[in-house]
Amino acid sequence: MKRVITYGTFDLLHYGHINLLRRAKALGDYLIVALSTDEFNWDEKQKKCYFSYEQRKALLESIRYVDLVIPETCWEQKRTDVHEYHVDTFVIGDDWQGKFDFLREEGAEVVYLPRTPEISTTQIKEDLNK
Ligand code: CTP
Repeated sequence: MKRVITYGTFDLLHYGHINLLRRAKALGDYLIVALSTDEFNWDEKQKKCYFSYEQRKALLESIRYVDLVIPETCWEQKRTDVHEYHVDTFVIGDDWQGKFDFLREEGAEVVYLPRTPEISTTQIKEDLNK
């Protein structure tokens, strides 16, 4: 069984997220989403989520492509997650192009998928504020 992992915040779930998750799952058989906790978002990414971690987790768990949701609490866990979850493939959108190539040293395939154009959580928030 080929195991795939991806990381992100997935706040205000939108079709760009769904496209990413669908293509990620298609790279293997079992998809793990490491979901940024509210603390990690705030402390490390300066992002305030609209939906709480538990709400975002419940949404992701209801998606057919997602098999398991785990918390992302720090940047460093990616190296250990690869081993702990027996990950074959790490996948993320190409806004992170080149940033996680070091995971190849841990034995994982690293794939950057093209982002879906013209949609993001930030864009949704901006549009609603207009
Ligand atoms: N993603 C994507 N296409 C989009 C938006 C996001 O492929 N249009 C991908 C990202 O590249 C990442 C995952 O979805 O791999 C989660 O991204 P996240 O940062 O949670 O979503 P954004 O909508 O980009 O959120 P923000 O605007 O807060 O950065």
